[in-house]
Amino acid sequence: MQALQLDAIHQPATVRDVPTPTPGPGEILVRLHAAALNHRDVWIQKGQYGGIKLPCTLGADGAGEVAAHGPGVPADAPALGARVLIYPGLRWGHNPKAQAKDFVVLGMPDPGTFADYIALPAEYIRPLPAHLSFEQGAALPLGGLTAYRAAFSRAQVQAGERVLVTGVGGGVALLAAQFCAARGAEVWVTSSSDDKLARAQALGVKGGIKYTDDNWVKTLVQQAGGPFDVIIDSAAGPAFNALLDAAAPGGRIVFYGGTLGAIPDLPPAKIFWKQLSVLGSTMGSPQDFENMLALVTEKQLVPVVDEVFPLAEGEAALRRMDAGAQFGKIVLKMG
Ligand SMILES: NC(=O)c1ccc[n+]([C@@H]2O[C@H](COP(=O)([O-])OP(=O)(O)OC[C@H]3O[C@@H](n4cnc5c(N)ncnc54)[C@H](OP(=O)(O)O)[C@@H]3O)[C@@H](O)[C@H]2O)c1
Repeated sequence: MQALQLDAIHQPATVRDVPTPTPGPGEILVRLHAAALNHRDVWIQKGQYGGIKLPCTLGADGAGEVAAHGPGVPADAPALGARVLIYPGLRWGHNPKAQAKDFVVLGMPDPGTFADYIALPAEYIRPLPAHLSFEQGAALPLGGLTAYRAAFSRAQVQAGERVLVTGVGGGVALLAAQFCAARGAEVWVTSSSDDKLARAQALGVKGGIKYTDDNWVKTLVQQAGGPFDVIIDSAAGPAFNALLDAAAPGGRIVFYGGTLGAIPDLPPAKIFWKQLSVLGSTMGSPQDFENMLALVTEKQLVPVVDEVFPLAEGEAALRRMDAGAQFGKIVLKMG
């Protein structure tokens, strides 16, 4: 089979022939039709990720068809030929509050989804919601899981609340905006691009502003009619302090990434005087994944696919993500 592999950091990823995996006891072999990029794949390539072990097939997100069952696969597992997607982590464990110590994201160090086939324990293979294509299904798992847990399991977003999602062009951020709007929240966004703000509005977002504008917090709070009950962010860094001003008294700020690095000079009084809750969130449990798939199915939500690249052009897809040019998820197509 073909796989997109990274041999060393700061090197282009290349497609090559590798052995097709054989499903072991309790495992399912999935013939992948599509996979999606996450910023993690770029961080690994740049050497900015913990515990890098190379060479490796990258990719946490995938959708395809069940190609074979290993011995002892449970009777209720997806049948041969079933359309499926993949839970994008391994070994979350039994604690809904946090992942186990040996939890890892799929695709480094274990072989990932940027390949024609993947073999995984049956528990990680879930039915693909019927209204989604393989490309749309591949765009969902890691981003949808992270967005769902941050918004609902951690920040407890409620219908009618005013929610701000920063950097809406991001894969996770756009899904968070779609999910919160579908649950009846009033969603506002920021972005670096007027075009992305307009596209987000077409998906049910009330409005937005460029985070590069001077005094964007003041202007957006005025537009929105008040500060935000919940803020969902992945930039952190020096941009984080502005979020403390954008939050309503008693508000919750949840963040799942640190694209801009450490948060300098965090003024304690802005957090304690405003009674703010600052929450961290990472990926999500298998139960978060089930809940996310149920929401997507109930509301017939469709992840936004930015651009589809053939697997052989995976390096160009990684460069598109690195440039921040995308709106939604960048997808690789196999075969
Ligand atoms: N903890 C977890 O489980 C988890 C899961 C997934 C991702 N992450 C992390 O979360 C971050 C986003 O991941 P992703 O896969 O969604 O990446 P992505 O698709 O590459 O999105 C990154 C987005 O960040 C936005 N951004 C850049 N500078 C910003 C700023 N100053 N203020 C606000 N937004 C800014 C941009 O939005 P615009 O294009 O709109 O300008 C950009 O599109 C990464 O750091 C990633 O490692 C963590």
